Amino acid sequence: MALKKITYLSLFPGMIDQGLSHSLVGKARQAGSVELKFVQIRDFATDKHKSVDDTPYGGGAGMLLRADVLFQAWSSVTSLEEKNSESPSRPYTILLSPQGKTLTQGLARDWVHRFEHLIFVCGHYEGVDERFIDACVDEELSIGDYVLTGGEFAAVVASDVLIRLIPGVVGNTESVSKDSLEGDLLKAPQFTRPADFLGRKVPDVLLSGNHAKIEAWRKEESERRTRAKRPDLFARYESGKKLS
Ligand code: ADE
Repeated sequence: MALKKITYLSLFPGMIDQGLSHSLVGKARQAGSVELKFVQIRDFATDKHKSVDDTPYGGGAGMLLRADVLFQAWSSVTSLEEKNSESPSRPYTILLSPQGKTLTQGLARDWVHRFEHLIFVCGHYEGVDERFIDACVDEELSIGDYVLTGGEFAAVVASDVLIRLIPGVVGNTESVSKDSLEGDLLKAPQFTRPADFLGRKVPDVLLSGNHAKIEAWRKEESERRTRAKRPDLFARYESGKKLS
């Protein structure tokens, strides 16, 4: 199983569509490797002002997205029966929120292979009525410890990470497996022409044509870089090595 479809519930779907229309992700959409669908939450408002948010009970700052409006939008894509079913192909609903689990390469890889259809719910304003989260959301996802004005950019970031992991989207599968962070190590430094730039030469080993030596050099550089720049990742890598 691999991810095939992402549906976005948002008040600003154009922000997401535009962010995911270029480069490899744009090509993946055109080639049909992934289908992106957009649901405008406001289309499900019921009053004449088309309101989607309201003030919090008990007082407090800002406005909250209403559970009933969000539920109608969500129900245009799936249902509570489907959510509570055991079907492996049921959509999996994710709320973008700074309260969620932090996105990592490992989490993305797991989701790409576990789910065919993800629903990303993008909150805006101060937040979302908790009852919608209880009833409909499977998991909350954060892209880092900072607060965005809404979930749209977070959805773009998460989608970009996920879509490039769909088999066939990145032409050279080796380039995905050699990514920075796959296997807990950063990438070795990389060079292209010219061989001399401002007097800085490309390391001789890379011009040697000796693939075994080049691989060994890259591994060593990856480890050296990770130890220097990301001691947290290096510690994880070291403990992983001891386990295997
Ligand atoms: N919405 C607001 N801030 C966010 C964050 N850091 N990650 C995901 N969604 C968000």
